[in-house]
Amino acid sequence: IVGTGASSKVIATLPSGESVEVLLYGATVVSWKSNGGKTENLWLSEKAALDGSKAVRGGIPVVFPVFGPPPKSGHPTSSLPQHGFARTSRWEFLGKSTSEDALDSQSVKLDFGLYSSGLAEEARRAWPLDFGLVYSVTLSKDSLQTVVNVRNEGNKSFEFQFLLHTYLKVKDISKVAINGLLGVTYIDKVLNASTHQQSESSLHITGEIDRVYGSIPQDTTSVVEDGTSRFDVVRDNLQDTVIWNPWIEKAKAMGDFSPDDGYKNMVCVEVGAVKGWQKLEKGEVFEGGQTIKSLL
Ligand code: BG6
Repeated sequence: IVGTGASSKVIATLPSGESVEVLLYGATVVSWKSNGGKTENLWLSEKAALDGSKAVRGGIPVVFPVFGPPPKSGHPTSSLPQHGFARTSRWEFLGKSTSEDALDSQSVKLDFGLYSSGLAEEARRAWPLDFGLVYSVTLSKDSLQTVVNVRNEGNKSFEFQFLLHTYLKVKDISKVAINGLLGVTYIDKVLNASTHQQSESSLHITGEIDRVYGSIPQDTTSVVEDGTSRFDVVRDNLQDTVIWNPWIEKAKAMGDFSPDDGYKNMVCVEVGAVKGWQKLEKGEVFEGGQTIKSLL
């Protein structure tokens, strides 16, 4: 653990130079370097708050137990802020383990925990259910795996949504294509939440985009840059993916988004379970996550 208080983070490095940095605040991955440590894969705003004062603008914020603005009333998550409390809560560092595969390639796993008993008063009051979250971040030579385990530790069933709000770093958004969504139905939040079907095999981003692709049959969403594969985002037990880029005006309007033209260097590919709700009975467990492969 490096640093103290709200800015504390855990840094892990492989002998070959790859590294990952995770803030205890939100268990937010704020840096992931592959290619011997030479290539940063995650976009992080220059004005991202890293002191626990606000959700991090960039990296991989963890969204739980509600995605987006919660239902207006009548749902147990209705009093929560947009994207819930996981990204703004301080998690516990549970420890580190290393392993080696058959090819002597090392990986390091960092575990973080968040429990209802450790929540801030406000979040606890807004969602008074007993849960335990364990979030595992595994760094391997060419990939980063992030998986959550949600356990219902109370006597009542509960419902939740979960999403990994990953900001992938790209060189030039105008040369990016996103593959793996052909034929999938999505809700377009830029167009009054209307429903559409992805009709092109490659999605190009030429303006503000905020789409929730649901029930995706294929496991992998690929990011191709300038004709070359850049990332494969592989979903594990998660069926939905949000594609988000604020573009010029919305980027400017966000106080913590910097530089203003940073939208050219990022695209959010956010895997999750956000269509409807995941239900857990007393004692039940849900596990889901992603593996991001950096293909440089
Ligand atoms: C995306 C949502 O997941 O997150 C967008 O689909 C939202 O609607 C974006 O604007 C950023 O959210 P926030 O709360 O981090 O500003």
